[in-house]
Amino acid sequence: MPVFALTALAALPVLAQQPSPPYVDALPGAGRAIDVAATTARRQRLADRLGDAVVVIPAAHERNLELDYSQDSDFRQHNTFYYLTMLESPDAWLVINARANGPDSTVLLLASRTPRQIRFEGPKIGPGEEAVRLTGIPTVIGTAKLDSVLGAAFARRVPVYVPLDHSTQYEPRIQRLRADSASLALRNLRPVADSMRLVKDSTELAYLRRAIELTALAHAELMRQARAGMFEYELEAILEAAFRRQGADRLGYPSIVGSGPNGTILHYSANRRQTRPGEVVVVDAGAEYGYYTADVTRTFPISGTFTPRQRAVYDLVLATQQAAMDSVRPGITVGRLGQISRDYMRDHSGDLCAPQTCDAYYIHGLSHWLGMDVHDVGDYGTPLAPGMVLTIEPGIYIPAESLGVRIEDDVLVTPAGYELLSGAAPRRPVEVERVMREGRESRGRAEARPGTRR
Ligand code: GLY
Ligand code: MN
Ligand code: MN
Repeated sequence: MPVFALTALAALPVLAQQPSPPYVDALPGAGRAIDVAATTARRQRLADRLGDAVVVIPAAHERNLELDYSQDSDFRQHNTFYYLTMLESPDAWLVINARANGPDSTVLLLASRTPRQIRFEGPKIGPGEEAVRLTGIPTVIGTAKLDSVLGAAFARRVPVYVPLDHSTQYEPRIQRLRADSASLALRNLRPVADSMRLVKDSTELAYLRRAIELTALAHAELMRQARAGMFEYELEAILEAAFRRQGADRLGYPSIVGSGPNGTILHYSANRRQTRPGEVVVVDAGAEYGYYTADVTRTFPISGTFTPRQRAVYDLVLATQQAAMDSVRPGITVGRLGQISRDYMRDHSGDLCAPQTCDAYYIHGLSHWLGMDVHDVGDYGTPLAPGMVLTIEPGIYIPAESLGVRIEDDVLVTPAGYELLSGAAPRRPVEVERVMREGRESRGRAEARPGTRR
């Protein structure tokens, strides 16, 4: 299996070489190689759960540069389709005939492309033997056969599972199935498929680790380069450049770079303000890699050192986060972790937020699932189990002081507790200040070299 070929800038530590996931452009026009064993196992698990059933899943469509938002025309596959195929082809369909007693059969239908499309868009994987080999799906035919494949499947008179969500609400073929839902016993696939995504398999974990590690290194790189007077968008640009330099595909969500008062606004992402000396900046940003996203927040002093007040608030958020992390183990729920974090913050506030306790300024939940979606799918009542990945992200936001502090990390649940996946981003205040100081010192040395333009 090929290893990652990374070209890191000098300041950015090279990620450890890892055997997976593959980085190469292994599918014609369609990105990374499909992990056939993983996707086959996922389809098998789904079929085993459903018993006698038909599963019908459409792929996403390419967006139109003129008719859709032209600023946002990147193709991204629907998650349910991707989870079961790892295939990025647009306009495709996946049909699974699941059988409680007997072999399941799976059909992938791929769109044929006109010579003009091939000329304009390059070659893409199409129906036939090569697609069978690359996807591991035994039957890959053209989408022109969709009606006959569905006709034969529906003749079995078993429940028909379709993702009934925003991904299919404008799909004409699905609309017709919905209109016929009584005779078809139409059911929503999402709750079943979503629950499968709670525990990550090893392929998913490899992608998640990759997304999170490169995100964490990018946060560290930003701390090295940040200085007072930069605009929030300059900080954003440093971070997002570091994502892309390390091979990230896109952002997991719009980057939040909130300086001073903007750090107290949870969903701030305009990122247009100029930073001022002495402020802290809240940076909540995560890269997506191979359809899996990181979600990491760091708060740092733009001038390089925390004031005593900022440091006291930071220390309380950090200790609260650690108390929650130390409670992560199989069997506990996200709700319970949230309560532990809130109790900890209240009990350790002292007079930091007097006349209240600081939990009054902790205005959001502690955790969410993480995976293909930043707020990943799955029931929040589910007790933690090994292989689940979640965020731990307490915060204190005091608008009257223009002071917001959030620290957000991504953790994997293990049989014994948890593994911190985002530890490459400096988190303890001394580490944050040290990394910022080192960045300043190396910039100072570079500027002092003869011939360097100031
Ligand atoms: N970045 C979104 C969140 O932390 O939930
Ligand atoms: Mn989060
Ligand atoms: Mn976040």
